[in-house]
Amino acid sequence: MKPSTHDRKFMTRAMELAARGLGQVEPNPMVGAVVVRGGRIVGEGWHGRFGGPHAEVGALQEAGPLARGARLYVSLEPCCHWGKTPPCTDAVIAAGIRHVVAAVTDPFQEVAGKGLAALRAAGIKTTVGVLEEEARRLNAAYFKRMLTGLPLVIAKWAMTLDGRVTAPTGSKDPWISSEESRRRVHEVRRLVDAVIVGAGTVLADHPQLTVRHVPTLPERGQPVRVVLDAQLRVDPSEEPMRSARQVPVLIYTTAAAVKRRRSRAARLRKTGCELANVVAAKDGVSLREVLADLGRRGMSRVLVEGGPHVFGSLLAEGLADRVMIFIAPTLAGRTGDPGPVALPGGRKIAPASILDMTFEPSGPDLLVQGRLGEF
Ligand SMILES: NC(=O)c1ccc[n+]([C@@H]2O[C@H](COP(=O)([O-])OP(=O)(O)OC[C@H]3O[C@@H](n4cnc5c(N)ncnc54)[C@H](OP(=O)(O)O)[C@@H]3O)[C@@H](O)[C@H]2O)c1
Repeated sequence: MKPSTHDRKFMTRAMELAARGLGQVEPNPMVGAVVVRGGRIVGEGWHGRFGGPHAEVGALQEAGPLARGARLYVSLEPCCHWGKTPPCTDAVIAAGIRHVVAAVTDPFQEVAGKGLAALRAAGIKTTVGVLEEEARRLNAAYFKRMLTGLPLVIAKWAMTLDGRVTAPTGSKDPWISSEESRRRVHEVRRLVDAVIVGAGTVLADHPQLTVRHVPTLPERGQPVRVVLDAQLRVDPSEEPMRSARQVPVLIYTTAAAVKRRRSRAARLRKTGCELANVVAAKDGVSLREVLADLGRRGMSRVLVEGGPHVFGSLLAEGLADRVMIFIAPTLAGRTGDPGPVALPGGRKIAPASILDMTFEPSGPDLLVQGRLGEF
């Protein structure tokens, strides 16, 4: 549908308000709402924290008696069920709203069109589809988990201009990208539920994988550190495993490896790591199973930080939704070093275009971001 200038303006505002909940409301969606009367906003609200009041309630409260006969713009269909708070549809009806404009219907089964139907049954006019695409994009993580059970997957790597992802052996500075770029990565880490790496990266780099260069957000702590290790090769005395009591470490492995390496499994558990068995896949553990398990644990956004073999599997199976690629202004000049995506055994990646691609400077580096597929 082609929205009017007025509709665009007020829905854009509702979405700006919704975005204030980023990182604070998950696994709930971000939602913003504005009450409009006589072409003027008289109430604004947003969902600010998980379990907290919904956007519509805040906007209606701010509008007070001015809500009677007014129009409500909301970035997602109002809920009609009892969750952590009462149904928003009841509040909208009680406030005397005349017309509800929603950007998109809620994919959550208990709502899914029933919220708008309840409003219509109470005599309220409803319109749906104003800036729908933008609203879906805003809540991509929520839509993906509701529709597929899997979290939104961001694949991030840093490489040199000649496409190498490892720092020179013995170099004083183990990083490829700049300090500014690493800070940007930490800004993403603090918004995700998990940071995922393969056993190869853990064995080579012993990364901490925590949020350090920026503060964590008030409503969420550190992301869970996830290690993919079908053979159970990682050592409990190294990072990130050894600090598992401070920041959780979840190791996906296989029942066969746990049986074969009983004492290592026991030591990892004693260090505080959680071990979860999934089925084995061609190159390790089944990534689809891992992501499905993370989705069942309530995770809606995860960051995969490598390395090349994990990226190879992820892309070959079409499981990445976003890419975040830092390109450093250096040439490694070592042809034998790995590139960002390893595809052993003749595996192939289906040709894919990166959509909505953006380029921006990140300190001295170039940051390329984009979307793969539907979400
Ligand atoms: N520049 C960057 O952005 C960046 C990022 C990360 C890493 N790196 C570099 O990459 C190098 C490590 O490369 P790598 O390819 O060995 O690391 P990797 O991709 O982190 O690890 C590969 C290992 O992960 C395990 N794994 C489990 N499930 C898998 C699956 N479905 N698909 C693929 N692997 C799976 C396998 O070990 P098991 O058999 O034990 O399961 C596999 O050998 C290091 O030098 C590191 O510094 C660079």
